[in-house]
Amino acid sequence: MSRIRTLTGIKPSGTPHLGNYVGAIRPAIADSQREGVDSFFFLADYHAIISTRDPERVHRSTLEIAASWLALGLDTDKVTFYRQSDVPEITELCWILNCMTAKGLMNRAHAYKAAVQENEESGAKDPDKGVTMGLFSYPVLMAADILMFNANKVPVGKDQVQHIEMARDIAGRMNHHYGNLFTLPEAVVGETTAVLNGLDGRKMSKSYDNVIPLFAPEKKLRKFIMKIKTNSLEPGEPKDPETCTLFQIFSAFATPEEVEAKRRQYEEGAGWGHLKQELFEYLNAHLAEPRARYDELIANPAFIEEELLKGAERARAEASDLLAKIRHAVGLRPLSA
Ligand code: TRP
Repeated sequence: MSRIRTLTGIKPSGTPHLGNYVGAIRPAIADSQREGVDSFFFLADYHAIISTRDPERVHRSTLEIAASWLALGLDTDKVTFYRQSDVPEITELCWILNCMTAKGLMNRAHAYKAAVQENEESGAKDPDKGVTMGLFSYPVLMAADILMFNANKVPVGKDQVQHIEMARDIAGRMNHHYGNLFTLPEAVVGETTAVLNGLDGRKMSKSYDNVIPLFAPEKKLRKFIMKIKTNSLEPGEPKDPETCTLFQIFSAFATPEEVEAKRRQYEEGAGWGHLKQELFEYLNAHLAEPRARYDELIANPAFIEEELLKGAERARAEASDLLAKIRHAVGLRPLSA
């Protein structure tokens, strides 16, 4: 059976939160441990600078995200774990793909369309106000990320599916014109992976400012959990677990038996204060070990740097053969042999 090659990028533009862990980090690491799977995970720092103009934030987030993945057990001998900007082959391929990508295709990208719509609604004179070439063409960079490594499976959130389809489209055009160079990638959208809600009950997301940082120190973690919005039912009154953020977060970590027992507590009318304290204790116990590793890693950026450079070296070794082939195919060739 042929091996599966999965690849996914993580944009370093903030501090990892519980939602990132449950929705992306945990399933990705579990997947990377399966037989027959070769995983490529990278920090998409060229993507981060599209939306973040704060250099400290990009730098710090790169450190925090790399430390988080390592603390959670990512095995860098098995997984190729690298920083996008350490692999210049990707941006070189990006240019070549740009030359084969229809502008009209990019006009249809959701992120760009949303920016234009916002401008139109606010009555701006120029519908492209505030749109950089980076934002406009970032699906091409994403295609380069994926196609450079011949990935066939790309685990992403729903919002990214269109970009994978664009990568397929671009790969198809290249293959059609220059001969078979690229594997056509497929998006993998985890149907079962939970989307966690945040402090206010909406989806946990940086943009709603409602996140619980994954490795918040114990005291802070407790504070965050105490802030989670609940309703005004009193202790003794039965509560609905299905609409409760506390229950949802607990369920993302607990065993089915523990979840059943928790459900009974809700039916029996446990009080919110009590349920919050229990969720805190449960999460804290679960996260204590990786958090200690995380703190150690954060204090040792030289080690993380070394891990990322090791990953980049492996990634470049993978990329260079294909890039040489692509350069040749498009006519960028030495003048004499
Ligand atoms: N654009 C993705 C995001 O915002 C991150 C990303 C960059 C990515 N390159 C990728 C994901 C390649 C999958 C494959 O989440």
